Amino acid sequence: MIGYQNIIDNIAKAAKKNKDKGKIASYIPELASIDINKFGIHLIDADNNNFSTGDALEGFSIQSVSKVLSLAHSFGLVGNDLWKRIDVEPSGDPFNHLSLLELENGIPRNPFINAGAIVVADILVSHLKNPKKDFLNFVQKLANDKTIRYNEKVALSEKKTGFRNYAAANLLKSYGNLINDVDTVLDFYFHQCALEMNCKQLASAFFIFMNHGKCQRGKSYLNINQVKRINALMLTCGFYDEAGEFAFEVGLPGKSGVGGGIVALLPNTYCIATWSPGLNPKGNSKLGMAALEELTTRTGHSIF
Ligand code: DON
Repeated sequence: MIGYQNIIDNIAKAAKKNKDKGKIASYIPELASIDINKFGIHLIDADNNNFSTGDALEGFSIQSVSKVLSLAHSFGLVGNDLWKRIDVEPSGDPFNHLSLLELENGIPRNPFINAGAIVVADILVSHLKNPKKDFLNFVQKLANDKTIRYNEKVALSEKKTGFRNYAAANLLKSYGNLINDVDTVLDFYFHQCALEMNCKQLASAFFIFMNHGKCQRGKSYLNINQVKRINALMLTCGFYDEAGEFAFEVGLPGKSGVGGGIVALLPNTYCIATWSPGLNPKGNSKLGMAALEELTTRTGHSIF
């Protein structure tokens, strides 16, 4: 058996000592005060064994990591109709970039750039009776944890400063690719990004993507084909204009968030969540990426 505990403990030890931890995201003011020294990892293997190190049980703002969960929920609800409104190509641009959206007539390049995730949010607002409550319930069920909550302060902080997201939503609306009104969709989107979860809860919620759509308790949420597609999107688009670098260094499908979280998975083998709030210039966790590179190098396993 691979010594996951030993590997992640060593990675955490080296990360604590590393002086160059990147920069905390400050464009959402509420995120700016997080302690840059936080570092956690949680890994769950295919037999449900759990391995934890550092601050793995401390909650943080999952931000764009939530886009995979909202995509999973909407894909389960509307199936392939989703792809009439969102493309599946990497953008090669930062997550909040807008010019491609205009050039491509309001069809976002993929569901993980902000414009794409806003269309996914629009679909959930259309199909869920109580969108915020029902989505939270979906995430709690995936993670098998009823304590997961939205951080209202973070949601409000982003609402007050989310000018680019308002621009994206208005552009989508002008092309007829947003059904509900801009404020309603963005209120949902800001809440989804403001979900507060720890590494263990995130690794649990992402278990379905390494386990053919079945959660830890065996319930099926997505079919094998849908899981294949979501994992392909994580690999090609999960890190925006750094997706190539992540595939090159780490070799796993994954998703980052500006709260410093990353979740990645090796199908049929494990899923792992890392948290280190300092970001690199592309908005992805600096030490989280380094930790995952170290993991796939030390174990010798990646999807390649
Ligand atoms: O919409 C935003 O800008 C944030 N709520 C989420 C961005 C994010 O996490 C990008 N990922 N690295």
